[in-house]
Amino acid sequence: MKILVTGGLGFIGSHTVVELQDKGFEVVVIDDCSNSSEKVLEGITSITGKMPLFEKIDLKEKSKVEAFFKKYQDIEGVIHFAASKAVGESVEKPLLYYENNIGTLVYLLKELSKKNTSNFIFSSSCTVYGQADKMPISETAPVKPAESPYGNTKQIGEEIIRDTCAVTQGLNAIALRYFNPMGAHPSGHIGELPIGVPQNLVPFITQTGVGLREQLSVFGDDYPTEDGTCIRDYIYVVDLAKAHVQALQRLLEGKNEENYEVFNLGTGKGSSVLEVIHSFERVSGKKLNYKIVDRRPGDVVSAYADTKKANEVLGWKAEYTLDEAMKSAWDWEQKIRG
Ligand code: WQD
Repeated sequence: MKILVTGGLGFIGSHTVVELQDKGFEVVVIDDCSNSSEKVLEGITSITGKMPLFEKIDLKEKSKVEAFFKKYQDIEGVIHFAASKAVGESVEKPLLYYENNIGTLVYLLKELSKKNTSNFIFSSSCTVYGQADKMPISETAPVKPAESPYGNTKQIGEEIIRDTCAVTQGLNAIALRYFNPMGAHPSGHIGELPIGVPQNLVPFITQTGVGLREQLSVFGDDYPTEDGTCIRDYIYVVDLAKAHVQALQRLLEGKNEENYEVFNLGTGKGSSVLEVIHSFERVSGKKLNYKIVDRRPGDVVSAYADTKKANEVLGWKAEYTLDEAMKSAWDWEQKIRG
């Protein structure tokens, strides 16, 4: 039995490949390496002792997707990470996002629809909730008009999958809505490799800590929160990877109650930007150089997960603390800059 992981050389994808291999699955990775490197294959192999099969394919090329599924007839499950994911870039280049994130999803689903049975795990995001009315955020919270084309591709993607599962015998799917992934594998062989100036908080913090960046800008401290900075649910990437294996096994074992299910993946704990900075200072023993600046357009005040459904139905729970995740991020940053 083979499992296809698209975007398997990326941040969350590579950590998921490790967890799949550790559970005995044979993995085929598709990646176009536009936002990752084939060197990640060595990192994965250093951890598991097994080099995953690898095909360098741009999923926008429909004929290549068709050829892949002709070559690999024994794909039993697909975990689909491959997508563009920079919120700001999506505002400037919407068509790049709709083509890459939606077009490729349609090509994959067309191939899976030809099989008698197929199991599909979709990488989605809490961004679909926008600013939710109630904290913590449960899966029944309304999906709100997207704040960016990136967020819209996640909403549209979920609807495409839902509608396809409704009329495709044998196609079962789960959408996993991530909160804020962070950290790196404890082995130090794989981790986040942001290209250029990081958009996300944690890599910007660790790059500032290691001297690559001069100073962190904190986007606003006048929000209606305890310390005035925004609150998010920072989830350790290894916890997140394990949830993908759990979701895949749910489908492979036929435990799903619907042909399309959704789960929020977070720790259930909200942390403010200043709390994340203090976590870095605790684990690194260094003072972080930061300044408060204006708010960033599009930021929601607060987002953290109601983990009840993931805990009780999926049978998964985040195990690592913010400090443990931050320590792994800091160790990784020092290693790659070392
Ligand atoms: C977190 C907090 C910022 C950078 C995004 C996507 C989401 C998912 C995760 C893909 C916010 C503050 C940040 C900085 C700061 N991506 N911040 N200074 O925006 O919650 O989520 O990434 O799936 O879909 O929307 O994450 O890390 O950018 O920001 O003060 O230099 O840190 O204002 O409050 P976000 P983030």
